[in-house]
Amino acid sequence: MSPRTHRVGVIPGDGIGPEVTAEALRVLAAVGESEGFSLETVGYDLGAERYLRTGEVLPASVLDELPALEAVLMGAVGDPRVPPGVLEGGLLLALRQQLDLYINLRPSKLFDGVASALAGVTPEDLDITIVRENTEGLYARRGSAGGDGEPATEISINTDRAVRRCVAYAFDLASAAGRSLTLVHKINVLERAGGLWKSIFDEVATGYPGVPTAYQHVDACGYLMVTQPRRFQVIVTDNLFGDILSDLAAGLVGGLGLVGSGNLRPGELSIFEPVHGSAPDIAGTGRANPIAAVISASLLLRHIGETGGAARVEAAVAAVAGKAAGRSTREVGDALVEACA
Ligand code: IPM
Ligand code: MN
Repeated sequence: MSPRTHRVGVIPGDGIGPEVTAEALRVLAAVGESEGFSLETVGYDLGAERYLRTGEVLPASVLDELPALEAVLMGAVGDPRVPPGVLEGGLLLALRQQLDLYINLRPSKLFDGVASALAGVTPEDLDITIVRENTEGLYARRGSAGGDGEPATEISINTDRAVRRCVAYAFDLASAAGRSLTLVHKINVLERAGGLWKSIFDEVATGYPGVPTAYQHVDACGYLMVTQPRRFQVIVTDNLFGDILSDLAAGLVGGLGLVGSGNLRPGELSIFEPVHGSAPDIAGTGRANPIAAVISASLLLRHIGETGGAARVEAAVAAVAGKAAGRSTREVGDALVEACA
């Protein structure tokens, strides 16, 4: 029987992006061999080098061809030679918004043997999945620049459609996993946007009587994630709150090198990337932890229906994560490849 073939794009990007992506691709190849599938990869030269060479950030031709792929594995974007925002906004946020990748799924799990920033916690205490709305909120980047006595404004956009599909996704996820779901917002101040999120959350909840629900204000949520992390299983929240809380969660589970993400459009092309950035300070030193990229690859496998392969990668990550500190990118990759065989 010929192996199943999946067409997957690869955007290695900037800084440590190419290094960690290379390890994730090795892991995917090893898993494919064990599970009977292969990936046909299509590389995209996007990021700082391309921008500095040609001035292009996200050519329309790329945006047109991506939806024909099943998924994209991305490294990281951002480079000190490029003004802040050019690549972040022009590439990453543009991909999320133009391809309508409406969920940013960010699971943070404490693995055995990994030191948390919190004292005395065990893996049972820290397994928090953040479902971040990925297309709107303050990331819609509406507003005005101000000046001449006029205020600078940033307007948060919250449509019924985007909030509803995000909340529904989170309920489906929590329900399938038998976990609780917490809505995080700031309804005591942001009455309009928060009110919409809360009323949609309460409405959708009626369809999921088996899912325990809770609500927290974002400030209290930050406090409770640190003091009582067990309270949280799945969190659903808006774009900016999800951005902030996912870095906080990463700190709790041993650092950004251990958290992957999926920019999802369920059933369609989705993009998988580490939560960390391009870390230009350690680029080229071989010290970047590839685990976040490999977790992103496992989320990619789940998305393309290779659930056996995804489980295999998750098990390999759980076995290797606690031994990654002090080892090179390549050594951790080797250990993961071996654990996946
Ligand atoms: C992330 C990053 C991005 C974001 C930046 C690079 C635009 O911090 O993926 O969390 O704010 O979403
Ligand atoms: Mn972020």
